[in-house]
Amino acid sequence: MTFLITAGPTQEPIDPVRYISNRSSGRMGYAVAEAAIEAGHEVTLISGRTCLTPPKTAQLIPVTTADEMFAAVTKRVGQNDVLVMCAAVADYRPAQYSEEKIKKHTDRISLELVATPDILGSLPRERKFLVVGFAAETSGIEENAMNKLHRKNLDMIVANDVSRSDIGMESAENEVTIFFRDGNSKKIKRTSKEIIARELVKIISNMKKNV
Ligand code: PMT
Repeated sequence: MTFLITAGPTQEPIDPVRYISNRSSGRMGYAVAEAAIEAGHEVTLISGRTCLTPPKTAQLIPVTTADEMFAAVTKRVGQNDVLVMCAAVADYRPAQYSEEKIKKHTDRISLELVATPDILGSLPRERKFLVVGFAAETSGIEENAMNKLHRKNLDMIVANDVSRSDIGMESAENEVTIFFRDGNSKKIKRTSKEIIARELVKIISNMKKNV
């Protein structure tokens, strides 16, 4: 099977030296890419900026912004069997980019933000590929994840609690609950991101084989 996997944060520039971003390290997405390769699948990895070394045999597509990630996913998704959107894509970017470094001249300034494209939300409703989203939540995990699953028309969603410091963003470990369209769910208790990734790849491969 061919997997298109996104990982890491996007960076939304304000001026030549500043940007808006988030704490995603890319570890979860890179672990999914490794696990898919280990299981014999072909992997294209669309990655925001991280400090990680990508798996040797993955085709790496480096991106910086949400717009670039949107373009990279849109261009390739139709040629793949599975899309796994593990990247922490910025929901907003600065409305204007300043070509010059913004100077400090008052005590208070405001930054106007505009919405970025919703990558998952823009996919065609009729499609041959399987779509797996992630939900980064700090409360109401099940309700919020199920809303995203339906609103973004996903086949499954992997929810994690990003308010905890021992799992989720940056950490070597995670704990996830996978929600399916039929209302079923499966929890994977706190363990390494590598073990979670292997379990996810197994579930995704079986699901794809059975559709
Ligand atoms: O990178 P690590 O440090 O290992 O941390 C892993 C992780 C916590 C980042 C990862 O497990 C995770 O939860 N990734 C999804 C982060 C996220 O953006 O979640 P969300 O609930 O805001 O978005 C829901 C889904 O929509 C995600 O699949 C996201 O990729 C996608 N999205 C978001 C915004 C956007 N403009 N377009 C999208 O498609």
